[in-house]
Amino acid sequence: MAKHNVERVLSVHHWTDTLFSFKTTRDPAFRFENGHFTMIGLAQEGGRPLMRAYSMASANYEDTLEFFSIKVQDGPLTSQLQNISEGDEILVSQKATGTLIADNLLPGKNLYLLSTGTGLAPFMSIIKDPEVYDKFENIILVHGCRHVSELAYDEMITEVLPNHEFLGEMISGKLHYYPTVTREPFRNQGRITTLMESGKLAKDLGMPPLNSETDRFMLCGSPGMLKDTVTILKDMGMKESRHGHQGHFVIERAFVEH
Ligand code: A2P
Repeated sequence: MAKHNVERVLSVHHWTDTLFSFKTTRDPAFRFENGHFTMIGLAQEGGRPLMRAYSMASANYEDTLEFFSIKVQDGPLTSQLQNISEGDEILVSQKATGTLIADNLLPGKNLYLLSTGTGLAPFMSIIKDPEVYDKFENIILVHGCRHVSELAYDEMITEVLPNHEFLGEMISGKLHYYPTVTREPFRNQGRITTLMESGKLAKDLGMPPLNSETDRFMLCGSPGMLKDTVTILKDMGMKESRHGHQGHFVIERAFVEH
């Protein structure tokens, strides 16, 4: 197993019964690109540490690290991790990697970041990256959840970032947020896939219909959502970036049930 650093929990935020996020200290030597994931975990008494893949929800220029997690009552790691509190030790691998990198995409005009559940995490890092705003005219962050309460970070996206001291102007001009909910009434309703196929997503955003000339996609979510979204994109003639070749879309497959 790759070497890890021991970090300290700085704060924990419980969004719902099933979702929480936390900030930790960051070893200055830990380097990553926005959109990357690493392995994090907890030391186990008398055994090997329990480590799982987590995307950084913080940007690579920030002094602290942030992670966004589900809570699974019988999940090997999250059943323990959900009980962490300020001052606790967290193990963070010294390496980071991942495919959600703008350089993997062909040049384009609109960057769609499509996520469900905790798949939002890497996009919280990416929407703070000035280089992404240089590359694309519009960044469209789509977050699909079952319930409104699961739309974590909504205030950060709509209130905090647009007023950010350095990035605020760029973000408020280019970032479009489209939260959607499937199991209760909300202003946007339905699965991301359904909204793409019906044309409602682009229409609601005031964007032209999705197309392979101008639109690029990053996907992070449940295996079912990834599979169905890829089918839609391929049907529109788009290709996934593979083996260093640029494509129309990239997928993070490190998403696992913890
Ligand atoms: P739904 O409520 O219709 O299942 P989950 O918590 O199960 O990961 O789901 C998060 C969100 O992703 C929910 O809104 C869920 O919708 C949606 N979802 C689940 N499966 C798919 C899929 N195959 N394609 C698109 N969205 C999906």
